[in-house]
Formats: sequence, C-alpha cells, structure tokens
Amino acid sequence: MGKNKMIEAKEEKPRRRNFLKALWISLGLVALGEFILMILSFFRPALKKETGSTQQRLIDAGTTDTYTPGTVAAFVTGQFYLVCLEDGGFLALSSKCTHLGCAVPWDKEQQKFICPCHASQFDISGNVLSAPAPRALDLFKISIVNKKIRVDINNRIKRNRFNRSQAVYPETVALGKAVKK
Ligand code: FES
Repeated sequence: MGKNKMIEAKEEKPRRRNFLKALWISLGLVALGEFILMILSFFRPALKKETGSTQQRLIDAGTTDTYTPGTVAAFVTGQFYLVCLEDGGFLALSSKCTHLGCAVPWDKEQQKFICPCHASQFDISGNVLSAPAPRALDLFKISIVNKKIRVDINNRIKRNRFNRSQAVYPETVALGKAVKK
C-alpha cells in the first residue's frame, strides 16, 4: 500500500463517522417530529368537540331591542320560548310540558300555553293555570351582554312557580342576579 493510499484511508474513517452521526441526528429529529404530531393529533379532536358542544349549547336569540314587552317568540331548534315580560324582563321557557313532556304551543289569542295532550295550561311566565301539570314550565339560563341575548339550552332550571328574580333584564348578565335599573 502506497503512502498516499494510507493517508486517504485515514481521512475516510472520520468522514464516515461524521456521516453516520448526521444520519442518526436526522433520524432522531424525524422521530421527534412524529412524536410531537402524534401528541397534537391526540388533543385536537377533544378541542374540536369542546367547541362544537359550546356552539350547540348557546343559542343566539338576537338583541333585546328587537322584542316587544308582552310577547313570546318560539325557538324551534332550541325547543324554548323567549318571553319578553311586560316589565322588559326576559325568560327562556322550555316548550316541554311538565306533565309528560308534550310540546306546548303558545296560543296568542288566549295569551297562554295550552298543552294538546292533557290540556294543562300555563300563563306567559310559565306558571300553571290548570293541571295536570305539576309545576311551572322549566327555564333555560339566559345571559344578556351588550343587549345580545344568549340562551344556554343545556342549563335547564326546574321551578314550582314564577318569581321576579327568575327574569333577566338587559342590565344583568345571568339568571338569579336580576337587578333592574
Ligand atoms: S303532557 Fe301536557 S298535560 Fe300531559
């Protein structure tokens, strides 16, 4: 073996070592990248689900100034009525009868809810006018921020009778904290 060939063989070894080192580092980085992607994809569906359920839960019911006191608006998809009381307070009444759960329509002529199943009747605030319904129509939680009304249809509130503290006024933010100015 000539002198030149021996020098070349000596230089070849560190070059090969450097190449292998670079290869291992590259493979390590690829594996790390895949691991990070796996972790992210594990969490992403959960985040999507959360957003979806939040959107489903909160129904945008418009702004307070579009409602006239003493009127009832039906929200078919949310299965509730948004009632604007004579004093400007709002209630979100479940459309399910508290007797056996039939859908209760609002009778504008008679100004009451009349159940088609067993004839229970409720006034505009959901109070029972005639049995067999055992208690007032359930409520859904309302929030009013900057005049925008939102109804949380996953937050059902059972009650025996209507009382004024259940109404939400434009100045308030949540059911039960009604302070009319
Ligand atoms: S379900 Fe409404 S009165 Fe029976």
